Amino acid sequence: MSFMDISRYILNNAASQDIKTDFGRFNGDKKVYIETYGCQMNFSDTEIVLSVLNDFGYAESGSVENSDVILLNTCSIRENAEKKVYSRLEDLKFLKKKNPNLIIGILGCMAERLRKDLIEKKKIVDLIVGPDEYRKVPYLIENLIETGEKGIAVKLSRVETYDDITPVRKEGVTAWLSIMRGCDKFCTFCVVPFTRGRERSRNLNNILKEAARLYLSGVKDIWLLGQNVNSYKHEGKDFADLLKAVAIELPEMRIRFTTSHPYDLSEKLLDVMASHENICKYIHLPVQSGSDRILKKMNRLYTVEEYMRVMRKAREMMPGIGLSTDIISCFPSETEDEHKMTLDVINEVKYDGAYTFLYSRRENTKAYEFETDIDEETKKRRLDEIITLQRKISYEINKGITGKIKEVLIESTSKKSEDQFMGRTDCNKSVIFPKKFSYITEDGKLIDKAELKIGDLVKIRITKANSATLFGEPLLN
Ligand code: 5AD
Ligand code: SF4
Repeated sequence: MSFMDISRYILNNAASQDIKTDFGRFNGDKKVYIETYGCQMNFSDTEIVLSVLNDFGYAESGSVENSDVILLNTCSIRENAEKKVYSRLEDLKFLKKKNPNLIIGILGCMAERLRKDLIEKKKIVDLIVGPDEYRKVPYLIENLIETGEKGIAVKLSRVETYDDITPVRKEGVTAWLSIMRGCDKFCTFCVVPFTRGRERSRNLNNILKEAARLYLSGVKDIWLLGQNVNSYKHEGKDFADLLKAVAIELPEMRIRFTTSHPYDLSEKLLDVMASHENICKYIHLPVQSGSDRILKKMNRLYTVEEYMRVMRKAREMMPGIGLSTDIISCFPSETEDEHKMTLDVINEVKYDGAYTFLYSRRENTKAYEFETDIDEETKKRRLDEIITLQRKISYEINKGITGKIKEVLIESTSKKSEDQFMGRTDCNKSVIFPKKFSYITEDGKLIDKAELKIGDLVKIRITKANSATLFGEPLLN
């Protein structure tokens, strides 16, 4: 049986998750470029697709220009996210003109949602693969090369977790570790349950093995990832059990997680966080709205008071914990009073940061049918009020940190200056500081330009702050 025969057999007969990539390396000289949009899950999925393609001899290329295959891993969460991808496809047209053999594919949430539109209207798209069909990518590419057939695979799965695939990571001290996929919450505004399918969790032991492998490869900071990590379930173990197991197994690793849903955020989880030093004291807990009526219409499954109780408990058990949230402004029928209730929640919790969005109407979702009469000017004003308030609070919190000493894990060179590093505190605040510094030894000698490196944990005295970033100077430990 030739590779092509096997490919066809697999495309026609096998369920995606039954495919084993045991053909060994194939071709060896093809170059793939993947551009990722949207949430961290997509970034983590890109690492999975790279791994699947690597097994077939595709190497990652550094740019679109010298690639045989360009894949856009897309996001559907808001209309703007989709617009970005459509406009990127327009940009890529000239490359396809120059090289008609170039293969352009769409991965991720838009694949599932817009396959017809993309194939019929966007002639340059050759390949459309949804989030649960990534094992098929190399077969679809080979089939396309051989037969000219466009490749489409967008079925959702109840079991696919890519548990056996070792993601191809970029170098660095921070890594994403996906622990579950999909979402069963069905918030009325959200496309995720439709584009990513039902909730399913990975095997706990395999997650531990992957975490250990990351540690051995030099990773110092792991984000456990899922659309709703608190729903993790595997053989009677819940997310708190998993978090505890990772914390105990890897005592030197910093461990974080995202995203949590307030409905499932248990006291048991807060307990585990509080009792393990290497679990970062940071929770991102989307509140979405400060009005119980709107939360009900959103199907968020909690009231404002229940949400506040979790936040208060978290602060009580872990004083100084970093807290952030997501907010959707102008959900259909939101009144001025209800908007003010959202401002009240922001004022009361005093988040370190918030991701704020204007409601975006998404096909297939329940809220698509909801009537709304909020005009554009009001939308702009309400969102501005939320952003301005949150900025003011973030600035006040950060200003309060100046003069204090924080332990920071160095992640990378600062984007703005080659001479500075960017690192993160346990509470997820980014800190910028010089790469080199001087200090005085015990016997009074001035030592100049001590070198720090990525991956070091350093004490930084915070000297300056704005609403998004802290600035400081390194201290000798
Ligand atoms: N419109 C605006 N924001 C949305 N989000 C999800 N769906 C929508 C939508 N239709 C936001 C929510 C969620 C975050 C990931 O994106 O705040 O928590
Ligand atoms: Fe979307 Fe709600 Fe699921 Fe989050 S919890 S992914 S907002 S449906």
